[in-house]
Amino acid sequence: MRNKRGAPMAPSRRTSGNLAATRQAVYAEDMTDSTDEHLASQYEAYPYPKRDPREEAKRLIVGTPSHIREIDYWIFGGARSASLPLNALIAGGGTGDATVMLAQQMTTLKRPGTVTWLDRSSAARSIAQGRAAVRKLENVLWEERSLLDLPGSGLGPFDYIDCCGVLHHLPDPAEGLRALLSVLAPGGGMGLMVYAPHGRTGVYMMQEALRRLAPATEQPSQRLDVARRVMRHLPETQWLRANRHFDDHINGGDAGLYDLLLNPRDRAYTVPELDALLASVGLRIVCWVEPVRYDPIAMLPEPKLRARLEAMSPTERAAVAEALAGNMAVHIVYCVRANDPVRSPDPMADAAVPVLREVDGQTLASGLRPDGTLPVMFDGLRLPIALPPLATAILPLVDGVRSVGEIRATLAGRGLKPDAIEKAWRATFTTLERINRLLLAAPRLNLD
Ligand SMILES: C[S@@+](CC[C@H](N)C(=O)[O-])C[C@H]1O[C@@H](n2cnc3c(N)ncnc32)[C@H](O)[C@@H]1O
Repeated sequence: MRNKRGAPMAPSRRTSGNLAATRQAVYAEDMTDSTDEHLASQYEAYPYPKRDPREEAKRLIVGTPSHIREIDYWIFGGARSASLPLNALIAGGGTGDATVMLAQQMTTLKRPGTVTWLDRSSAARSIAQGRAAVRKLENVLWEERSLLDLPGSGLGPFDYIDCCGVLHHLPDPAEGLRALLSVLAPGGGMGLMVYAPHGRTGVYMMQEALRRLAPATEQPSQRLDVARRVMRHLPETQWLRANRHFDDHINGGDAGLYDLLLNPRDRAYTVPELDALLASVGLRIVCWVEPVRYDPIAMLPEPKLRARLEAMSPTERAAVAEALAGNMAVHIVYCVRANDPVRSPDPMADAAVPVLREVDGQTLASGLRPDGTLPVMFDGLRLPIALPPLATAILPLVDGVRSVGEIRATLAGRGLKPDAIEKAWRATFTTLERINRLLLAAPRLNLD
């Protein structure tokens, strides 16, 4: 998993209608925020996450947000041409996970555009650059600066902005979002990740103990030494011991342990808090990843409960799911400007091209249990993912090239009735879309 959250939020910055004045005010406030200085020192001493450029020769780290297929589908509704250049900003790019993933995917798929890595950590930059160099990526730009300086910077506009595990560390996350919005192109969108409280049970207790034992004013290396010693004596009742939703403090090296337990500022957002934060800056959530996790109907399959849940707004339902499951350590969302038109991709359209993520249709079909369910775990939570019997015939036809019309025709050629095909395709697509596995590809239009 890429990234994390903690302490109470600082009071909101006041904004000015004048961009230059706003920028100056932000700069002045940053300089007086010693917590932010400690945060900057942390990521200089322990660039996050721990990565070794040599590993790029062996594997590509793929995740969410900012997978090219997710951007195409969740932000652009599968309607933005793959031939249009995509200019992406990875704000607080760290050691390069999203930058490398997206730039590599765009290179492999021959998608035009650029990925701009931006972060204020020079240590993180040299690792991220090393990774991009191993892959010989030619579509990455590098900006070493604060994301709070974006307004008036001349950078952008960007069609897509990733900000993963960064906003919750800022003195004022809303100000950070406004800075990002200032460089978001019309019709563009963002992929964000912030910490969520319930799945991080134990983290904030440990942060408090360590803040007292090793204050942020000490050298990062001294603080880390204290944390390592404490971890050796963690009482058996400490909730962190029972929490299996992340392992950064165990397997993430110095950077992981520091980021989780010694971070000078991180805070977690519940579903309603994140929704309110985004609404306060004029953003609307178009997808909580994975959608099925945010739908409590999947956890409460009783008609009476279902009726109550169906009467709720999607955000209320998502809040129920979060509190009920108790295992969400982060929230990942895709969002667009609140006033932008709602994009409703149509998986039934003949021209739509369905695409599976990180799995081919044949493999997925053969992974189905005899009862038609797909075994999937979400941080220890098993949810029923039931596909129609015809899914075993449909899935091998999904190759990211065939259109829905072609899949229909192939199935009809095998003697299947149109009604049965329609029903099975809709159910297959909807079920797998809700686990973020089956999406619609960006159309390849000839723009000449
Ligand atoms: C936890 S790391 C996340 C890195 C990366 N986004 C990922 O998910 O792997 C947080 C990153 O945010 C960066 N950061 C924090 N405040 C920043 C700011 N004001 N401007 C730019 N980068 C910032 C840090 O330097 C650090 O690299």
